[in-house]
Amino acid sequence: MSATKSILLRCWLVYSVLVGFALSSSFLIAQTVQISVDVSQTGPKIDRNLFGQFAEHLGYGIYGGIWVGPDSPIPNTRGIRNDVVGALKAIHVPNVRWPGGCFADEYHWRNGIGPKREVTLNPNWGGVIEPNTFGTHEFMDFIDQIGSEAYVSVNLGSGTVKEGADWLEYMTAAQATTLEQERAANGHPAPYKVALLGLGNESWDCGGNMTPEYYLDRMKVFTHFVRNYNPAQQDRDQMQKIAVGPGGGDQRWTDWTETVMKAYGQHTWSWGISGLSMHNYTVVKWPPAFKSFGFGEDEYAQILKATLEMDDLIKKHSAIMDKYDPRKKVALIVDEWGAWYAPLPGSHQGFLVQQNSLRDAILAALNLNIFARHADRVRGANIAQMINVLQAMILTEKEKMVLTPTYHVFKMYVPFQDSTFIPVTFNAGTYKHGEFTLPRVDAIAAKGKDGELWVEITNVDPNQSAEIELSLAGINAKSASGETLTAPKIDSINTFDAPNTVVPKPISAMVRGGKLTLKVEPKSVTVISVEQ
Ligand code: AHR
Repeated sequence: MSATKSILLRCWLVYSVLVGFALSSSFLIAQTVQISVDVSQTGPKIDRNLFGQFAEHLGYGIYGGIWVGPDSPIPNTRGIRNDVVGALKAIHVPNVRWPGGCFADEYHWRNGIGPKREVTLNPNWGGVIEPNTFGTHEFMDFIDQIGSEAYVSVNLGSGTVKEGADWLEYMTAAQATTLEQERAANGHPAPYKVALLGLGNESWDCGGNMTPEYYLDRMKVFTHFVRNYNPAQQDRDQMQKIAVGPGGGDQRWTDWTETVMKAYGQHTWSWGISGLSMHNYTVVKWPPAFKSFGFGEDEYAQILKATLEMDDLIKKHSAIMDKYDPRKKVALIVDEWGAWYAPLPGSHQGFLVQQNSLRDAILAALNLNIFARHADRVRGANIAQMINVLQAMILTEKEKMVLTPTYHVFKMYVPFQDSTFIPVTFNAGTYKHGEFTLPRVDAIAAKGKDGELWVEITNVDPNQSAEIELSLAGINAKSASGETLTAPKIDSINTFDAPNTVVPKPISAMVRGGKLTLKVEPKSVTVISVEQ
């Protein structure tokens, strides 16, 4: 053998060993992710209400975040910030839950109507002054400006049935009752639409520390007497009534679901509910101590692992609901969810101010995908909270506004609103960091309202990109394009000074060998539509 041949042979051997090692080591080269979608296999509707928002009188959520008042130098329409309205319109908010949260069970609606507002306190959230300048009319104006619907939570804790019934009559009556006339005198002759009605909030805790049995008795009275009189909503299903449901997965919570759903299973014409609420924050341990930015991979992996518990929780409570409501008439509405971290240093501890990083974008996508996979039962969800509170879409400071990574995910998911779920199969692989092991990749698919195919792919792994091979049955795919959201670091954030650190960028996919192939970046959320 000549010297040259021998050198070549040795090089070849070294190369083969290195390639073999690389291929066998999931650390160096991760497996290609095969995602299969069969467009003919359609599932339930992904209700647009899964993308609902929650705006409580808490910290700067309402005051400063939405409401600046008509005399403010901040551009506004009848007191409501124009910049915030513009941003929210773009994410097609289907409904906004208001006025709380814990605030709802201490809210007396009469304080927030008319020319002279009562000045009260907000005992749950820092004990600060509640000026009541943002009340029923301002909320409804806001809903109208952003093109959304009202999810009003009625005070079932410290309020009376009559107070709740009067509020609904005030908002919805079309006939010339005294309350209707008062609404008209306050500037709104036409009845308002209340799409969803919350029957209390966390009645097992801040809503009155009730037992499930006591809550049930009280809730039944409210569902009967708190009526919607809007002529356009006379069909019973036109206003969804949402009962308080569980806030966790242990026996205390399964007992709660069991009690409410068992009663529902035997309900008569005179009461009924269309939804059961569930609250589940990603927190790891109370009180929330994880930092919202300035964290490392340990906290990244731990928080994302914790957020996946949403799936088990939904399965657990859905199974109980199935026993008493096999036709799934009652929706499970996850009307408080999201990451709850330590308050930002220097912020008011009762205002729940936190930053919002790329990790939150991934967390949002994972949860939205879980909801979509349970779309037959989960037909509503409200991330907590819309502006300046917890996992917010928007942060404001005086005249400044910034859109968070979570906002961008909600925008990218707009095509999934009222789409039809399509089951997907994929080899998720694993992302392992220290003691935390998670699925590396997540994906959902859906047929949009206009029949187009949408696919979402989340790459949880912060260190490796993922090669995706998408097999599509029932559609002759030519190409795909969409957007991908990632950033330099797992805790990258958008700030008032640098608002574009975490923003979506265009991405496209090629057809190769009959499959769509694309590479998704580490720690990214990608939404593509498939063109045929
Ligand atoms: O979103 C903050 C609070 O969390 C809500 O007011 C309450 O319902 C929950 O405990």
